[in-house]
Amino acid sequence: MDTNGDQAGHHAEGVVGAGSAETRSVSAHANGNGHHANGNSHHALLKEKIAILKREREAVILAHNYQDGAIQDVADFTGDSLGLARQAQQTDAKVILFCGVHFMAETAAMLCPDRKVIVPDLAAGCSLADMIMPGQVRRWKQEHPGGVVVCYINTAAAVKAECDYCCTSANGEDIINAIPADKEILFVPDYYLGSYLKAKTGRNIELWKGYCPAHAVIDPAHIEKLQEIYPDAEFLMHPECGCLTKQMDVADKILSTDGMMKHVKESKSSTFIIATENGILYRMRKENPEKTFLPASEQATCHHMERNTLEKVLRSLLTLQYPVTVEPQIARRALVCIERMMEISNKAKPLAFPAQEAPVVYGWLDKDPQPVQWGDHVLAAANDLS
Ligand code: 13P
Repeated sequence: MDTNGDQAGHHAEGVVGAGSAETRSVSAHANGNGHHANGNSHHALLKEKIAILKREREAVILAHNYQDGAIQDVADFTGDSLGLARQAQQTDAKVILFCGVHFMAETAAMLCPDRKVIVPDLAAGCSLADMIMPGQVRRWKQEHPGGVVVCYINTAAAVKAECDYCCTSANGEDIINAIPADKEILFVPDYYLGSYLKAKTGRNIELWKGYCPAHAVIDPAHIEKLQEIYPDAEFLMHPECGCLTKQMDVADKILSTDGMMKHVKESKSSTFIIATENGILYRMRKENPEKTFLPASEQATCHHMERNTLEKVLRSLLTLQYPVTVEPQIARRALVCIERMMEISNKAKPLAFPAQEAPVVYGWLDKDPQPVQWGDHVLAAANDLS
């Protein structure tokens, strides 16, 4: 914590509850670092079983930056949508256990057709992705003949199959700039990311009016109060933020989640106001313990991301549930826009965290995982978890 006198004073007066915001988001996302002894040992046991089974299954665990802290702890790679798609492409593992939301696993399944992609909870979807359907893209294209459709990666495979280019929050500008300058662009589904790209590139972009509910709750008035209390804090904003149209110019940086991770590590600042889903605070605090991270909103949580738990991760490894697959004729078409994105993006920018620099995550396991004999007793263990 940054406890310099002024800031500590404001904390004591509880002016906007920044201190309590921090506490709450830690408790919401840092399960596994635990609050009481029983919780700790339960999680430690789960983590140990997961490490053993992961090795047995020749599985890799990919976790989005928004995942619960305990899941981040057992992941081989934690990252943003683009970074995880690249990790999926590069892995030799037979099984990819994707801890994030459904469209991310779908993307991995399409990029790695010879791997088994599983998720801990099939109901972990994306409200933003659900705001655009394939038929709506087809109709929009008819209204804009010659328009080039760019979809955010937060879309279903069936929507991607209707689109020309895919992008993430990390590479949106590179993708838009790669499209011939005379083309009209139709951007789906995130209005705020689209607005940001329109402002940055000056291109003729029509915007679909989708939004992420977790980012929509972030209130500019609260950020202004935090900035009054922490005048030296850097304000980092994700381009999905609902406050983007009002605050784009006052944000110090507008970044993807991996972009934020890289920036907070390299910045000389000691305090940051973070406008994105609060799951990322766990990783920020873990990797930068000397710095202070304040959520721009205590309410910025994704209930889909929160569906995944350590228990479900273990059960997935035990039972290989739930597989995510994409129909071949959809995958073939959707891959066109994904592969275009990968090609443009790989040329434009390397990974924020290249594979060989990915953080080592098994520090908590002090002995080598032991092999498991598959049999009824292992499957019975899965039932114990319910
Ligand atoms: P990034 O993963 O690109 O940072 O964006 C977050 C997101 O959209 C998750 O839904």
